[in-house]
Amino acid sequence: MKPIERFKTIAREAGKLVREGYHTSKTVRHKGVVDLVTEYDVRAEELILKRLSEHFPEYVLVGEESHYGTYDHQRAIYVDPIDGTTNFVHGIPHLGISLGLWEAGRPVQAVVYNPILDELFWAEAGNGAWLNDAPLHVSMQTDLQQSLIGTGFPYAKVNQGSEYRWVIDRLASVLPHIRDIRRLGAAAIDLCYLAQGRIDAFYEIDLQPWDVAAGILIVQEAGGRVSTLSGELYAFGDKGIVASNGCVHEALLNLMRPI
Ligand code: IPD
Ligand code: CA
Ligand code: CA
Repeated sequence: MKPIERFKTIAREAGKLVREGYHTSKTVRHKGVVDLVTEYDVRAEELILKRLSEHFPEYVLVGEESHYGTYDHQRAIYVDPIDGTTNFVHGIPHLGISLGLWEAGRPVQAVVYNPILDELFWAEAGNGAWLNDAPLHVSMQTDLQQSLIGTGFPYAKVNQGSEYRWVIDRLASVLPHIRDIRRLGAAAIDLCYLAQGRIDAFYEIDLQPWDVAAGILIVQEAGGRVSTLSGELYAFGDKGIVASNGCVHEALLNLMRPI
């Protein structure tokens, strides 16, 4: 089986478990004041890591619920077992299982699977991005004022510190100059929506490698651009990410300021 097909099989297997959890009552714990984790996040990650270690033994596995230490490795697979846990808990079907394989600082293959809507987004470097069997392409929107833009709010907002200020200040500077904002609640899926042309751009601060490892490749392979807040190539650990169809990127960056 090709490695990308293996990823899809693993995501679908975990998807079965997540779908079961979505339709039933579940144990919810707090990782922070509003940051939740359920038994299904943990069980789905265990299942995914077990399968990956059987089929990709030469890769370091970095899973949201079990990782510790550094996340910069020559060969690694970044796993978010449920991106959009808040939606999962509240019964909102915008969530995904995200698997991103990176080698030497570059994304190589990616799967983001929404098991509730049965939408499987995937990409291989140099081989395009796809939703199930349909090729993906970013939108052709060139006018920022007519652009629909995704974003997210870091959990640290509850502290009303610099992250909260940045979010509020950016909303104030961006909102009048775009069609509207969407805060859909799952960064990995938001990036896939950008790849598909459902939204025209996306920005957020404080995202972790497992949130974006797969989505970055899917956006790039769909013809989009991913950068830091100041326009450089995005790398894990950078404070902010800006992704777009390319056409509205500079105009959006002009409304951003590094934190
Ligand atoms: C979160 C989602 C959300 C984003 C948060 C992420 P989680 O991931 O992607 O959209 O705004 O910053 O942490 O906690 O649901 O896996
Ligand atoms: Ca996440
Ligand atoms: Ca998660």
